[in-house]
Amino acid sequence: MIISASTDYREAARRRLPPFLFHYIDGGAYAEHTLRRNVSDLADIALRQRVLRNMSDLSLGTELWGEKLDLPVVLAPVGLTGMYARRGEVQAARAAARKGVPLTLSTVSVCPIEEVAPATPRPIWFQLYVLRDRGFMRNALERAQAAGVRTLVFTVDMPVPGARYRDAHSGMSGPNAEIRRVLQAMTHPRWAWDVGLMGKPHDLGNVSRYLGKATGLKDYIGWLGANFDPSISWSDLEWIRDFWKGPIVIKGILDPQDARDAVAFGADGIIVSNHGGRQLDGVLSSARALPAIADAVKGDMKVLVDGGVRTGLDVARMIALGADAVMIGRAFVYALAAGGQAGVENLLDLFEKELRVAMTLCGAKSLSELTRESLVVDPVHAAPAAADEGIAS
Ligand code: GLV
Repeated sequence: MIISASTDYREAARRRLPPFLFHYIDGGAYAEHTLRRNVSDLADIALRQRVLRNMSDLSLGTELWGEKLDLPVVLAPVGLTGMYARRGEVQAARAAARKGVPLTLSTVSVCPIEEVAPATPRPIWFQLYVLRDRGFMRNALERAQAAGVRTLVFTVDMPVPGARYRDAHSGMSGPNAEIRRVLQAMTHPRWAWDVGLMGKPHDLGNVSRYLGKATGLKDYIGWLGANFDPSISWSDLEWIRDFWKGPIVIKGILDPQDARDAVAFGADGIIVSNHGGRQLDGVLSSARALPAIADAVKGDMKVLVDGGVRTGLDVARMIALGADAVMIGRAFVYALAAGGQAGVENLLDLFEKELRVAMTLCGAKSLSELTRESLVVDPVHAAPAAADEGIAS
């Protein structure tokens, strides 16, 4: 059954990828409640249909910190994207540029900044974690700046790792992980040839360059684990505010007070996010958290959101709930695994068409006309935060 392009691409990715990789991207923390709610809470939000309003002329574009986007969509930072397709970050960045949207390169990408940035005409964004190794952070920022990156995405919701039990089952971690991964690669020959062999090196490109030695998958969990910093607080970020000349976007905000603190810190934007349900299972879905946060910082900064976005209709819902733009993670990685650059371009085309239909039938000619007036409260599933804010039209 075809439900959306993302679900089709997800199934194709499941067939193509060794299970440890499929489950790493597909899974979340603990019992995966938040992961599922990200999708289901969003799908439960009813759009308000309007008709006969001459919708011949739509504008789907937007602007973030002086950068024009053809769609209010940004490809989210996803670690190890280069394991999902041959030099995957390069393919994804090219697809994004072709469709007029940015790609955010993860700190723990396979391809280093120096490989991805020159491969596309559009400046990429760069994502950084708060790490114990401040030397690495400074080095990464300098290299990003030298590569022409303007927009810095700062991930702050990983002071400790959320346990991903699926990874232990799938062979990503746990007993005999290495041998299990080799066996899985052998039984997925298409991936093994195209990515496993031809897509080398499978370094953590940014980290290897800093450490001056090759790194691999086993270093991924190890290096990140050793580098999480639970002592981190806003004051630790001040040097970055001074150092970085372009926009700084704080990723991992789920509470209105933290959003206000981000304004006080001087951030240019936030990303409302529960890390795709991969950190603290049981927190609010992004769709439920978004309205109160958007209201708390309205006019002070840009608000982006990720979590559960699988279609252009979901993009419309998030914009209507108060987001300026929306990040997609799993959706584009499934498409990349299944179809490479062309798969991601196709996915973005479909998102564009779906958003266009949603705007036409909600009577919104531009993104600014997609508001809570474009939604109808569903009496069964109304989000508490949303209901408090009077989403009912
Ligand atoms: C890393 O950020 C992950 O979610 O695996």
